[in-house]
Amino acid sequence: VPVESGAGDRAARTAAPARRRPIRIGLLGLGQVGSAVASLVQSRSAAASFEIAAALVRDPRSRPRPAGVPITLHPADVFAAGPDVVVEVLGDLEPARTLLLAAIERGIAVVTANKSLLARHGDELIDAAADAGVPLHYEASVVAGVPFLGPLARRPLLASAFTALTGIVNGTTNYILSAMAATGAGYERALSEARRHGFAEPDPAKDVAGVDALEKLIVLLRHLGCASVDPAAIELQGITAITTDDLRAARDLGGTIKPVIAARWSGGAHDAVEAFCAPAFVPAGHQLACLDGVANGVLLRDRADAGFFFAGPGAGPHVTAITLLDDVIEAATGTVAAPARAASVRVEAPATPWLVRISGAPVSPSVRLTEIFGGAGVQATRVSRGGGSFSLLTSACTRSRIQSLLAKVGATSDSRATALRALGDRGTKL
Ligand SMILES: NC(=O)c1ccc[n+]([C@@H]2O[C@H](COP(=O)([O-])OP(=O)(O)OC[C@H]3O[C@@H](n4cnc5c(N)ncnc54)[C@H](OP(=O)(O)O)[C@@H]3O)[C@@H](O)[C@H]2O)c1
Repeated sequence: VPVESGAGDRAARTAAPARRRPIRIGLLGLGQVGSAVASLVQSRSAAASFEIAAALVRDPRSRPRPAGVPITLHPADVFAAGPDVVVEVLGDLEPARTLLLAAIERGIAVVTANKSLLARHGDELIDAAADAGVPLHYEASVVAGVPFLGPLARRPLLASAFTALTGIVNGTTNYILSAMAATGAGYERALSEARRHGFAEPDPAKDVAGVDALEKLIVLLRHLGCASVDPAAIELQGITAITTDDLRAARDLGGTIKPVIAARWSGGAHDAVEAFCAPAFVPAGHQLACLDGVANGVLLRDRADAGFFFAGPGAGPHVTAITLLDDVIEAATGTVAAPARAASVRVEAPATPWLVRISGAPVSPSVRLTEIFGGAGVQATRVSRGGGSFSLLTSACTRSRIQSLLAKVGATSDSRATALRALGDRGTKL
């Protein structure tokens, strides 16, 4: 940022802080987050001063806009306004991708909150920014209320030492499952509660299907230098089929069910990454178990198995806007390098423990189960009975093995068997 200062020596500069001209922001999008950015810019007197040079919208009459923001329907006007930094809060892939590439081509620093774009076109954007020597920041795209991507980007040796992550990165689904566990409410009722409190979008499809969390997992894997991964390659399950019986079984087995992202990798250049994004049993002693409501958290483990836990509030438009403006300051001062390019690697579904729930069996299925599971080398590590169902936690095995065991259980009795992934106790990688 250019500095206007007549001070000729260090002492004078220290005594009278330099007067900086505002950082000019080209805002792509003036919806929930864009409006929060504009409001903060207008209200802020703290660390830096900003000015919205122009804000791009689709339809000027589609919603109320913060007063005093120069609005345009034409992207060219945003570039013509001479922004120092372009902030993209349009959502979706296009025109966001084309406009960010256009900004980078013009040598303008870019900041985005768009995890869908980064999950699908992150390599292209990072390469373009690196080639042009332009800062690209995206702290607000993943767990915007817990800014840890920037610090890790400044610590490449630390970041490259991680070989596993587990996390809860979607506040809507964490709120729904937490409410179901705490009150015994069914999925639909818990979703209405989330909407009433403003924790769910009118259309929460991407959240409840797990797509939002999956996109954040992809951004994290790339950011940690682990892998550049096609979202379609990762095992994905939403929370819509989770029942209060599942949550009761989880509680009886000493834990709860959370919307989990998980991955582990060896760090070798050509090795596969094992990953999933699904509602999973989390033992009560695990760090993620204490994240209730809209709280978010990411637990990273390094080769020596030391854990680094980043946790905090879920992000609404206001928190996201604060993180975006902090990124704007970093982008304008050019303090952080773009992350290194991650290699494309194979993705596999990991072997993990499973929470198996068997309902509708007329008699205790335990004897038969021991035979079926034991015959396949899968042990029950904990069992519980109640509410007309029989539940167990298994030793680690693959999805295909657990599915073939469930099919056998179904074929040999009238019972219905379901399985959810499970994390191990505190201290295990997944
Ligand atoms: N909402 C949150 O709490 C939150 C938190 C973290 C990250 N994010 C991310 O932030 C981004 C923005 O989210 P949001 O909730 O602010 O979305 P939003 O309320 O739907 O706002 C999108 C804005 O972009 C404009 N826009 C969309 N397509 C356009 C096009 N083709 N041409 C011109 N303008 C266009 C819209 O114009 P109109 O106003 O004319 O419709 C609107 O102003 C997304 O990537 C989201 O994932 C959001």
